[in-house]
Amino acid sequence: MSPESTDSTKRAEWSRYGFVLAAIGSAVGLGNIWRFPYVVGENGGGAFLIPYIISFFCFGIPLMILEFTVGRGFRGSVVTAFGRLHPRLRHLGLLPFVMTLVVFSYYSVIAGWTLAYIIFSVTGYMDFKTFTSSPLPLITFFATILLAGTVVKVDLKDGIERANRYLMPMLALALLIMFVQALALPGVQAGLAYYLTPDLSVLSDPGIWVQAAGQVFFSLSIGFGVLLTYGSYLSDSAPIPRSAAVVAGADFLVALVAGVIIFPVVFSFGFDPVSGPQLAFITLPRIFSTMAFGSFFGALFFILLFVGALSSILSMVEGGVATMVDEWAWPRKKATYLVCTLAAVIGLPSALSYAGFNLTLFGAPFLDTVDLLFGILLVPVSASVICLAFSWLWNPESLLAEANKNSRFKFSRAAVYYLRYVVPLLLLVTLASTVAMTLL
Ligand code: PHE
Ligand code: NA
Repeated sequence: MSPESTDSTKRAEWSRYGFVLAAIGSAVGLGNIWRFPYVVGENGGGAFLIPYIISFFCFGIPLMILEFTVGRGFRGSVVTAFGRLHPRLRHLGLLPFVMTLVVFSYYSVIAGWTLAYIIFSVTGYMDFKTFTSSPLPLITFFATILLAGTVVKVDLKDGIERANRYLMPMLALALLIMFVQALALPGVQAGLAYYLTPDLSVLSDPGIWVQAAGQVFFSLSIGFGVLLTYGSYLSDSAPIPRSAAVVAGADFLVALVAGVIIFPVVFSFGFDPVSGPQLAFITLPRIFSTMAFGSFFGALFFILLFVGALSSILSMVEGGVATMVDEWAWPRKKATYLVCTLAAVIGLPSALSYAGFNLTLFGAPFLDTVDLLFGILLVPVSASVICLAFSWLWNPESLLAEANKNSRFKFSRAAVYYLRYVVPLLLLVTLASTVAMTLL
């Protein structure tokens, strides 16, 4: 045992690359491979990339840098960081804490579908309707939570960090193989034309801007405090701006490539690209079951989805676990059991709404409404709270010193004003439009 590991006051720290890999693992997930392509397809193809890239740079990357900086500066999970900023603000951390727990719960339902589909790719696909009327999705939902808990309950380095050291190369390899095969298909031109040709007329639709902003938040895991938690284990020697650029860049690249994989396949087999969320679970399986080497590519595709989802889930579990460890000095194992049990219970109605039970909330399947509330609507709220609190109340010198530590790129004072005024304003506009679009 090294001397450090017996010292209980020393916080766990990522090894070199461990942090960036884990943060990429958190960012890259169902949001990139499952959601991004169909959102682009439904929203004007390549034109969607314009609002996406604008949101990405205007508040995506800045907020990611802020979360990393706050995490490292306060050496604590999100509730702890708020508490150390000001004791009376401690409860503000409960918002991202609860959001993450809820997202963990329904995200595991969809991750569970992808797990089932890995098996189907070999045994033959079950029709999606038949699948979601059976109890099978419940089993894969619990299996996913169990698997994530098994990883997180071990300590940081041997658990999350080590898992990502295997999962991220697997993801990259699966992505690369699928990418090469997609480019060799006859429908590649039609697919790419559909995916990337901008229909600029859609830019006058505020809905596109709102969708893009929501997609950036969800995809980069911003506003949930999970990046903040990961940042709390970051060593002082790591340059935060560069890490954030790598993580955000990887996230964007994977999302982009996922579309390049999916649309050529869809077009090569004469399917309709706009088939919404179920593109991955209805359209693609149909194609995989007829194409050459379809079981291989099908398995690869669903492994890609599951690996991406699992590594994202690890960060969600850690968000909850770190809070309990920091706040109540709980052992990591006990905290993991509680977080996973809570998610299994909270996620039950979402899982059941796609397992043969007609559970709805505000007129949509339970899972869809919970996603809208906790994965979309509350996110700009929570991101604003984090942004406002830490840019106004944390002394600007400390904030800048932490962000610039060992970085060749240095932020100036203007960055603090940007976070104080510009980002909250952008988030307010996003939030107001999201609410208006949802209700109208
Ligand atoms: N960023 C992940 C994705 O794109 C989802 C996620 C959301 C991860 C919230 C952590 C926290 O799939
Ligand atoms: Na993502």
